[in-house]
Amino acid sequence: MKTIKDKQASAIRYYDRFSKIYDWISSDSYYRKARTLAIEKMDLKQNQTILNIPCGTGQNFSNFQNELNNTGKIVGVDLSGGMLSKAKVKAKKWSNIKLIKADATEIDRDWINEYVDEGLEFDSILCDLGLSGFPDWKNVIDNLINLLKSGGKLVIMDWYIEKPNLRGWFIKWVGKGEVNRPLYQYMEGKVDHFEVDHSFKNGEMFVAVGSRNKASLSSQK
Ligand SMILES: C[S@@+](CC[C@H](N)C(=O)[O-])C[C@H]1O[C@@H](n2cnc3c(N)ncnc32)[C@H](O)[C@@H]1O
Repeated sequence: MKTIKDKQASAIRYYDRFSKIYDWISSDSYYRKARTLAIEKMDLKQNQTILNIPCGTGQNFSNFQNELNNTGKIVGVDLSGGMLSKAKVKAKKWSNIKLIKADATEIDRDWINEYVDEGLEFDSILCDLGLSGFPDWKNVIDNLINLLKSGGKLVIMDWYIEKPNLRGWFIKWVGKGEVNRPLYQYMEGKVDHFEVDHSFKNGEMFVAVGSRNKASLSSQK
């Protein structure tokens, strides 16, 4: 039987291959409405430090730069070398993007201190189409919230199809993830000022935002 590690490794091999056509299949226009709201909810301002996980081929970079304008810092993390090599090509236009190959399930404060910058905290984090595929997704959400500055924003954009229909099965097959994980429902109990809009793709895709609640999470520091 396939272990979680085997499944993850085979998903990453798949994304290494898929990277060649990802921007064509998963086109900018297909997710535009949801992405536009997700980035709006990050409430970006010049000189901020943000994390995009998984950054995939870097489809969000130019939208981030509309607000950051090559100031501050964008950290992009993905586990697929193929996806990251596409992201690298896009990132060349600017000097404020740092790309790192890493497993989302291992990213916490210690990891940031060791591999990015000691004591770095983020103004906002965008996790788009990632948590539906990551193992141990609840822990990833907890860790991401804990990487935010107090009041910083976590934005999740993903699928939620409670009873997978034909599109759900297709998305599971193409994306190598699940479509019925209660991602925003879990997040709701962990953040302040939670909001969700699930009006995308006939109510099957959502954008959720919430901010880090200092009191409830400071014990995790
Ligand atoms: C559907 S793509 C989304 C990429 C990008 N966020 C977007 O919206 O275009 C899923 C991405 O998750 C990455 N991924 C899967 N498991 C991962 C893990 N454990 N850690 C980091 N990245 C992972 C894949 O390599 C792939 O780039």
